[in-house]
Amino acid sequence: MGTGIAAVFAAAKMKVTLIDTDQRRLDESKSRIQGIAAELLAAELIDETPETVAARVVCATGLETCKGSELILEAIFENLEAKHALYTQLEQVVSPSTIIGSNTSGLLPSELCRLFRHPERFLVVHFWNPPHAISLVEVVPNPATKPEITDLVLKFLRSINTDPVLVAKEIPGFIGNRLQYAVLREALAIVRSGAATPEAVDTAMKASLGPRYSVVGPIETADLGGLDTFFTIASYLMPLLAKDEDVLQLMKEKVAAGKTGPRSGEGFYPWPEERATSVIAHRNRALLQHRKAVRSK
Ligand SMILES: NC(=O)c1ccc[n+]([C@@H]2O[C@H](COP(=O)([O-])OP(=O)(O)OC[C@H]3O[C@@H](n4cnc5c(N)ncnc54)[C@H](O)[C@@H]3O)[C@@H](O)[C@H]2O)c1
Repeated sequence: MGTGIAAVFAAAKMKVTLIDTDQRRLDESKSRIQGIAAELLAAELIDETPETVAARVVCATGLETCKGSELILEAIFENLEAKHALYTQLEQVVSPSTIIGSNTSGLLPSELCRLFRHPERFLVVHFWNPPHAISLVEVVPNPATKPEITDLVLKFLRSINTDPVLVAKEIPGFIGNRLQYAVLREALAIVRSGAATPEAVDTAMKASLGPRYSVVGPIETADLGGLDTFFTIASYLMPLLAKDEDVLQLMKEKVAAGKTGPRSGEGFYPWPEERATSVIAHRNRALLQHRKAVRSK
C-alpha cells in the first residue's frame, strides 16, 4: 500500500520519501511505481513518463529522512503495537505541527493515537487497494484531532484527484469495509443455502449493483427507486437476510484446507497464476477507464 500511495502522490506531482525498514521492498518499489505510472499514462490519467513520476520518489530506510515533511502517511503492518512504537519514534523526529495519518484498514484512531504526545495532528487516512485505481480515501479523525487538520487533509486529498469522505465518528470498518462485509455475508449465505453458485452470485453483482453503484450509491438508488417501494420490499426482505457469523464456516473450511485464493492457487475458484494476473490487469484497466470517464464528465 505504501508504494501504491507514494505513486499516487508522485503522479500528482508531489515529492515523496518512501521509507521502509526492508531494503528489498524498497529496491522493488521504484519499478512498481513506474508500472503504476504506466497504467495511469495508458488510461490518459497523467501525461508524464513513468520515469518522470518515479523520479519524484526518494527511497530511504531511516526515519530522519522525513524530518521536513508536511504530511506523513504510515502504512506498516496492521499491528497496533508496531504502529504505536513507530509513532513514538516519529514524534521524536518531526515537529509537533507535522500531520501524521495512518492507512490502517480498521484499527480505531482513538486506539492508534493513545501514545501520541500530540494526538491533535493524527488521523486515519485510509486508501483502498490499489490506491491508483480506486479513488476513495476514508478520513477518520480521532476525538482530539484539530478540525483544521481534518479539513486540510480533505482539501489536499481532493487536490490530488482522490475522493475523500469524512467518517466524522469512528466506527469499526469505517464505511467501505462495513458495506463490503455486509455484502460478503449475504453472498456467502446465498452460496451456503445452495440457492446459487459463487459464479452466479458474482455475475449477479457484476451485471447489476456493481456498475450501478459506481454511478448512484445505495441510498440514492433507494430514493430513485421510490422510498415507498423500497420500504415495502425492505420490510419483508430485511428480516430474512443473514445476520450472524454462521456463514464464516464456509470461509473457515477453505482456509483450513489451505485454499486462500491466488497465493495458494485456489479459493472459491481455481487461480492458476496466468488467470490471476489477467483478472487483476483487467480489473485495474476497467477501474482506470471508469476514473477517466468520471473525470472527463
Ligand atoms: N493490502 C491491502 O489491501 C490494504 C488496503 C488498505 C489498507 N491496508 C493497510 O495498509 C497497511 C499496510 O498494508 P500492506 O498490505 O501494504 O502491508 P505489507 O505487509 O505489504 O507492507 C508493510 C510494509 O511496512 C514495512 N514496515 C514494517 N514495519 C516498519 C517500520 N517500523 N518502519 C518502516 N517500515 C516498516 C514492511 O517492511 C513492509 O514493506 C496496513 O495497516 C493495512 O491494514 C492494506
